[in-house]
Amino acid sequence: MPTASALRSSQWFAGREELAFQNRSSLRSMGLNPDDFAGKPVIGIANSWSDLNNCNANLRELAEGVKRGVLMEGGLPLEFHSISLGEEFMKPSAMLYRNLMAMDIEETLRANPIDGVVLLCNCDKTTPAQLMAAASADLPAIQLNGGPRAIGYWRGNPIGSGTDLWKYSDERRAGRLSLDEWLEIEASYGCGVGACNTMGTASTMTSLSEALGMMLPGTASIPATDSRRMQVATATGRRIVQLVREDLRPSRILTPQAFENAIRTLLALGGSTNAIVHLIAMAGRRGITIPLSRFDELSQTTPFLVNMAPSGRHLMDAFDSAGGVSAVMAEIRDLLDLNTMTITGRTLGDNISRSRSFNRDVIVSREKPVRDGGALAVLKGNLSPSGAVIKTAAASPKLMTHTGHAIVFRDYEEMLDRIDSPDLPVTADSVLVLQNAGPKGVPGFPEWGSIPVPKKLLQDGVTDLVRISDSRMSGTSYGTVVLHVTPEAAAGGTLALVQDGDLIELNVAERRLQLLVDDAELARRRAAWQPPTSKHLRGYPKLYIDHVLQADEGCDFDFLRPESAEALEFVQPIVGRS
Ligand code: FES
Repeated sequence: MPTASALRSSQWFAGREELAFQNRSSLRSMGLNPDDFAGKPVIGIANSWSDLNNCNANLRELAEGVKRGVLMEGGLPLEFHSISLGEEFMKPSAMLYRNLMAMDIEETLRANPIDGVVLLCNCDKTTPAQLMAAASADLPAIQLNGGPRAIGYWRGNPIGSGTDLWKYSDERRAGRLSLDEWLEIEASYGCGVGACNTMGTASTMTSLSEALGMMLPGTASIPATDSRRMQVATATGRRIVQLVREDLRPSRILTPQAFENAIRTLLALGGSTNAIVHLIAMAGRRGITIPLSRFDELSQTTPFLVNMAPSGRHLMDAFDSAGGVSAVMAEIRDLLDLNTMTITGRTLGDNISRSRSFNRDVIVSREKPVRDGGALAVLKGNLSPSGAVIKTAAASPKLMTHTGHAIVFRDYEEMLDRIDSPDLPVTADSVLVLQNAGPKGVPGFPEWGSIPVPKKLLQDGVTDLVRISDSRMSGTSYGTVVLHVTPEAAAGGTLALVQDGDLIELNVAERRLQLLVDDAELARRRAAWQPPTSKHLRGYPKLYIDHVLQADEGCDFDFLRPESAEALEFVQPIVGRS
């Protein structure tokens, strides 16, 4: 247990006289007495609450619960706000700013008298961004999410966030849903505060935070408006003070074994493909390399066990009452390393020892997985030499082996302009290709990969066709969608060379994605290829374009990943006069 003088914050409050005077006086100016803070661990509360992020709207209240817990345990809570990443409002994509949020929090921790931190997250990117920061800063840290939102109903039918929007949007485009009906759905679509109520990226990432051991067990899926959430906030506040006293840091929790457990859990959940990118980035912050191929290897031996939208039927309230992610991990306990340390101070094995599924229609048994053959696959071939990803759990089995002629969209705007045109020469056998929608290409790696099914096919009753891009897909989306093609088109990947009418072969069983154009012709096209010019000549987007890594490396910035053991060390600031 660190003594008061060994606390990191003591350099600010009990160091050189003049400096300590200044810093203690700053606390006093906020109404605190010396007895309120002297020798106490200072707990930062990194709050991603914002009016610009509806999914994180309840974090302001939860922060009060965290503060209560910190105070009860003898710590001093100091709340601070970071940039908040709301999927809905941020354009072109919240993903553009994930690394900025991670930097914001890491640098706030570095610069301030903080001994440990509570990370308040909910919407998709807020969770990985905070964990990337915590992994780099390596101060005691614990995460708490806001939970999934309540379910709205339209004419008696439950509405799954994202998933049902895409479904009803297709109905509307096909002319089978009136404007009045569409607006009725809108009225009951976002039913209150909290994250998407499907197993989209938000719930996938918070589940994985719990699986990694960075969140209190059994808490990730508690609904946003459930009073247990405030109880967990208080418990989280208490626990972070204990973590500081125990000096239990992320470096002991975020180990290679913990990341393997998280990948297994992702696969058993049939979770979002976005988690692949985030797990690689988070591991990279601890100097751990996860090759893309590892997801495929583990997919082949991990059963897909969760019957949740978008791949299945249920929503997050059912997942929580069925036992949540602890129950999923308990179901695959023989595939996990149960000795990994967690923020409880106990092992993962201890945490899940009493967990089990309480509803076999939601969290199914190993003997009867939701679907055979794994939830994700990694594809290679001349079209994706460094890999591409497909969520097999949400794809059409009949399209898993398919060869078709390409219809190419050079960018997102062109796709929007042409996709519903009666002149689009598309059939159900076509392969839609979207270029220049990757990390550098936009920039920001948006969720444009789920290209809409063209209107004229929808009107013929077609609901899915093969789509390929260097983009991502919302965790709430579904379909036979090949994503994260790497290298991306804007970086000179083969995807940039595809032309209308080219034949493309997708063979998921053999993990192949092949452009059936001969090498001489591809060499000719490559010689003529010009990289797209960007309008971003300055500012953060320019920094992003210049330094973002490709999807198979997690899309972190090259300078944020430690390239040596020495670079893993969190360099402390000189605590002197400002
Ligand atoms: Fe924020 Fe889904 S849009 S969690």
